[in-house]
Amino acid sequence: MVPSSLPAFIRGHLAPGHSALVPELRLYLASEITPLWQATEGFLAAHNLAPPFWAFSWPGSEALARHITTHPALVRGLRVLDFAAGGGLAALAAARAGAAYVEAADIDPLAGAAISLNAELNNLAVTPRIADLVGHPPEWDIILVGDVCYEAPMTAHIMPWLRACSAKIPVIMGDPGRKYRPQSPGERLATYKVPTSRELEDGDFREVTLFRLTP
Ligand SMILES: C[S@@+](CC[C@H](N)C(=O)[O-])C[C@H]1O[C@@H](n2cnc3c(N)ncnc32)[C@H](O)[C@@H]1O
Repeated sequence: MVPSSLPAFIRGHLAPGHSALVPELRLYLASEITPLWQATEGFLAAHNLAPPFWAFSWPGSEALARHITTHPALVRGLRVLDFAAGGGLAALAAARAGAAYVEAADIDPLAGAAISLNAELNNLAVTPRIADLVGHPPEWDIILVGDVCYEAPMTAHIMPWLRACSAKIPVIMGDPGRKYRPQSPGERLATYKVPTSRELEDGDFREVTLFRLTP
């Protein structure tokens, strides 16, 4: 069940800000990471929810959002899915770039609440979808997916479906060199140097590659 207090929880622990790479879009972001993690631990355990991935913009989606904002024709007029969206930065960029319809899917109900608040903050239309869409036939013209190769079971679960989708529609993945990224995910489209926080990453920036996945 989704607690009705989710938006209030997000507003209470995060503040509107923006990523350095995509100043055009505002997001509810955690400024101090440790207190958020501590605060969420009790709340999340009580509601059986996952760690707060939605409270940060991860390098994969930052590069995707930068790329789409600079090249809006990539998504203009299309039905877009931001898969494993977290706070939905790539979805926001697609909506701002003129996509016809944008869905942002995540399995975490708090991510859904964050996506709605972030869309409202930018006056953009993004539909959150709390579901595991793995196995669904593609209902979109393009899929965006940022930073999903950080955990072996998750990557093993989602990647075969994403690659199968890539036989039918473009699937663009932003990856900052995470451990479980497939050896040859597909065609390299672009590379971005993304500033990062040392509280989350082991350096001051990460190089993110955008791949167009292949089956
Ligand atoms: C590191 S975060 C990346 C979030 C966002 N794409 C970004 O780059 O900022 C990974 C996200 O994947 C979500 N996730 C994990 N398994 C999923 C699945 N099967 N379907 C949808 N989302 C999933 C998690 O809840 C989390 O929000």
